[in-house]
Parts: sequence; C-alpha cells; structure tokens
Amino acid sequence: MMTFRAIQISRYASRSLFLSTHAVGSAFPHAKFRLSAVPGAVFHQGGSRSFASHAPKASEILSAVYRVRLRIAQWVWYGNLLFTKLKPILLSNSGASLIGLTLGTGSNLIYASYVNCKREQGLQSALALGSVPDVEGGRVLAERKEIKEALTTLLQPASDHSQYGMVIGSQGTGKTTLVRQVAHNHAGILYVNIQPSGVTEQEFAETVAKALHFFPRSRVWFNIVLSQLGIVTHDVEDKRKYLVQVFDEFTRQAKIYRQKTNRPPVLVLDNVNRLAAGNPGLLNILQDIAKDAADDGIFITVFVASEGQAPLQILGRSAQSRLGRVIVVKDLTKEEALRYLCHQHGKHRDIAEAVYDFTGGRIAYLKSALTQLNSGIPVLGIRQQFLDTGRDVFTKAKCMPDDEFKLVAIPLARKMLLAGAISREDFEEGAGSQTTAKRLLAVNIFTLSPYSELVVFDSKPIQLVAQEVVGNAAQRRRSWLWLW
Ligand SMILES: Nc1ncnc2c1ncn2[C@@H]1O[C@H](COP(=O)(O)OP(=O)(O)OP(=O)(O)O)[C@@H](O)[C@H]1O
Ligand SMILES: [Mg+2]
Repeated sequence: MMTFRAIQISRYASRSLFLSTHAVGSAFPHAKFRLSAVPGAVFHQGGSRSFASHAPKASEILSAVYRVRLRIAQWVWYGNLLFTKLKPILLSNSGASLIGLTLGTGSNLIYASYVNCKREQGLQSALALGSVPDVEGGRVLAERKEIKEALTTLLQPASDHSQYGMVIGSQGTGKTTLVRQVAHNHAGILYVNIQPSGVTEQEFAETVAKALHFFPRSRVWFNIVLSQLGIVTHDVEDKRKYLVQVFDEFTRQAKIYRQKTNRPPVLVLDNVNRLAAGNPGLLNILQDIAKDAADDGIFITVFVASEGQAPLQILGRSAQSRLGRVIVVKDLTKEEALRYLCHQHGKHRDIAEAVYDFTGGRIAYLKSALTQLNSGIPVLGIRQQFLDTGRDVFTKAKCMPDDEFKLVAIPLARKMLLAGAISREDFEEGAGSQTTAKRLLAVNIFTLSPYSELVVFDSKPIQLVAQEVVGNAAQRRRSWLWLW
C-alpha cells in the first residue's frame, strides 16, 4: 500500500511550483496569487482511488495555467514599477533623446539586417536556375543541334575543369542567341552582355553588378559615423574600385556555388569585341582574371566575340595558355538554311534557294529576308537591298588613305575570288604592311578567322559586290588599254 502511495505522489504537481517564490522579488504581492486561487486544486496525498487515477492530469494542467498567469502578472507588475521609476527621466530632454537614439539605432539595425539578408538572397539567386534571359519567345528558331551540344559542354564544365573558353564567329551568325538559349536552361551561369556604351571600368562593373544583383552592403549609422571619423569598425566602408568589389563578390558567390554543387560556375562575357575596340586594357584584365579563376578552379569564363580584334587580342597574350575550348559559330549550311526557310517557315524551295544565294546562310540575314518576304517584298527586291548595303561598305572603303583600296584591296579581292580564301601571311604580303592589312580588315570587307588564320570575305553580300567591283575594275583597265 505504501509503495502504491509513493508512486501516486510522484505523479502530482509539486507545491513549490505553485509558490514560485524563488523567482519573485520580495516586493511582489504574493498574497494575491495564493494556492487557494487555483480553481479546484486539492492536494491530497491519499484519498480515494478514483481521484488518484484521474486528478493528476487535471491538476498538472491547472498548475501549468497558473504558472503562466503568475509569470504574466510578474511582468506586468515589474513593467509598471519600471515605468513609474523611469517616467520622470524619460520625460526629461535627455531621456527623450535617449529613447529616440535607442529606437533609431534599433530600427536602423533591423532594417540593415533585413536589407543585407535580402541582398544575400539576391546574390545567390543570380547563379540559380534560369537567371540567364531566354531569347524572345514566339519565334521559330533555326535548329542548330550540334553546336548547341558543344555549347552545353562548354557551359556545364566538370568539377576539375581549369581552362577558360571562347565562342567566336562572324557578326550575325547567332552566337548570342545560341549562348542564351543554352544557358537559360542551366544553373550556375552568370551572363553579362557588354553594352556599346559600357566599356569603361565603372560602366562594365555596373553591368556585371546588375547581372549579379550586387549592391554595396547596407550599414548601421554608427558604423558610418565611426568610419567617417577614421575609427575602424567591424563593417568599414568598401572604398576599393567598384570593379574589384563586384568581382570579389562574384568570387565569393562562385565559391558558395562550387561548395554546394561541386561544379565551378560559369561567367559568360558576351560582345567582348566591344571591349577590344573601346577598352583593350580592360579585356586584358578580364583575361587575367579568367586565367587565375580557372587555375584556382573557382569559376570558368567564356568570352563571346565576333571575329576580328577581340579573339586576336586574346590569342596574342601569354594568358592564352589557359584557353581551352574554342567554339566557332559558322553560317548555316545550305541544307540547314533551306530547312529553316522551307520546313520551318513554309517558303517555296526556289525562293529559299534564291535567298540562300545572296545571304550565304548567315542567320541574321536569313531572318531579315524572311521578315521582308512575309511583308510582301519580292525576293529580287530583297537581294537588291542586301547588295546596296554591301556597296555602301565598298564606297566607304574607297575613301581609304593613299589609294589603298585601288592599289591593294582590289587585287586582294581578285585573289580571294579565285581562291575562296587566302592565308594571313599572303594577305599581309599583298597589303604591303601589317598596318595596311589591319586597316583593310577594319573596313569590313575582309575577315580574319583567328583559328584557321585564313582571310575570307566578311559575308556573302560583300563577296557578290566584290565580284562587281573587281569586274568593273577589269573592264575599266581593258577600256583604258584599248584607248591607249
Ligand atoms: N537559330 C536562330 N533562328 C532564327 N533566328 C536567329 C537564330 N539565331 C539568331 N537569330 C537571329 O539572328 C540575329 C543575329 O543573332 P545574334 O545576335 O544571336 O548573332 P550574333 O552572332 O550574336 O551577332 P553579333 O556578332 O552582332 O553579336 C538576331 O536577330 C537573332 O534573332
Ligand atoms: Mg552577339
């Protein structure tokens, strides 16, 4: 019987829990919160067996409720006491200032923490799935399966990949569209499109910052004051160049991404030819950053450039030793172009062949011709427009200094029409000097393909106009000889 009672006792709530005097100061009016205030609380250590089997649960609940009430009453009481004591101080001028300062600092602290938390979320989401903008929807694009597969491998490097890459091709061959189409479907890619008006360090840094969702950390006001006074705080203002700040942040995010996925993220820099033309020094810096990041396995850079100065500059530096895969985006083959025009856009084969004849499978031209066909312009009229644009290029080139066009460009064009392409060496020899060769390449009649080191006509319309120009020159020479 004694054993039974001992077990029952242990199941009842302890009296001391109801008193709680250990936590309350002596001034607290305990009399108001006596045990008798607990409704139905009866502390029997014996009693009937039926009470022993049901009461413990009810008693425990009541005791818990009572304890909560007691705590609330204590807080209210102490609150009142504090308010009464502090009231005169708070109503004084210095008291009000203190309250203002405390509230101001507190809200500033909460706001800064909130903004910085949002900032971190934004930064991490920049490398998340689908952060690369897709090509505009609603268009039927030419299928380019093979090159898309090659790009997928380049944009999804293995964990031990340690080389940066390059995507090159003549203007309008569809590099940007392809890169965005592929990158849009994969995580871990930061796509930066260099704007024509964004080639200074600051402008470029702003473009990267936008893609990365980067903005400087929000700081608490006393950090700002202390750093203004020259007193170092744990959160000093970042006074380094904006480009360095942005790349440091990208490096930090790249490390986080790498840790999470065991794969290096990829930084795609599109239109680097704009840097080669407007700020070649910055392109050199970016190539060095790309080399170091690839060496350390932090991130992989992919440079996207039109053929011309940019790939030549990249290939001409020692940092090119870490250049890995180079993907050349070429014009569509005749078969691909006809499939695009006939099967994907329902054009008659004769029309499609005529369009291919003056566009040479350059996707930008095919798309433009298609738009004009759809608006009712006959194919001969479109051809005429393309040739007129090509003639404009030659007209500008005719203004070249020292009569370079007549003396050098026409013989080179003649040679190219016969051979299809000429080597870089032959081109420079025909031009007479490297400077003239450079000037000729800059007038957009000829293009040097950096990988094959072959010089070709810039596009099919240019080739067609070159035929005209070379033919006219030969005709004039013949007439002149005849007269003589
Ligand atoms: N696969 C495709 N199908 C249909 N149209 C395309 C395709 N790829 C590109 N285009 C169109 O061709 C034009 C040129 O494409 P894009 O800008 O991608 O070429 P690019 O090589 O990046 O040009 P640039 O050398 O000037 O940077 C654009 O109008 C684009 O919409
Ligand atoms: Mg482009």
